[in-house]
Amino acid sequence: MKLLVINGPNLNMLGVREPEIYGNRNYAALCAFIKEAANEVGASCEIYQSNHEGAIVDKIQEALGTFDAIVINPAAYTHTSVAIADALSAVALPTVEVHLSDVMKRESFRHHSFVAPVAKKTYMGLGFEGYKKAIRYLVCQEE
Ligand code: DQA
Repeated sequence: MKLLVINGPNLNMLGVREPEIYGNRNYAALCAFIKEAANEVGASCEIYQSNHEGAIVDKIQEALGTFDAIVINPAAYTHTSVAIADALSAVALPTVEVHLSDVMKRESFRHHSFVAPVAKKTYMGLGFEGYKKAIRYLVCQEE
């Protein structure tokens, strides 16, 4: 199975950014963790990060015919982007949404996700582990 893992804005700042919320490990560590999680279940994965909404929309569109499933942490665009949700609906690839932090326990503006209705599942508040769960759910149907 070919997985596309998409990380949205400011996730490249992991390790520097609000470590009390997102932890001390940096973005390279997250990528290594994701690669390892995919390897463990025999999946290949490409990891893509962008701070730009349109670039993320383009990447989702390009996934059609190339990837079998998508793991996405849309970051702040979770709460604002109809365009990203529409792109996910358009390609209709099985998608799992991930958030490092538990957005439901944070500010109320983070409680709504435009992506959740088009995702099969959402993992939040599990840190890096949420990506592993998303990969295992998509590849092995493991909850
Ligand atoms: C986040 C949560 C979002 O609310 C926030 O804007 C992010 C990261 C998370 O992984 O916890 O940038 O998606």
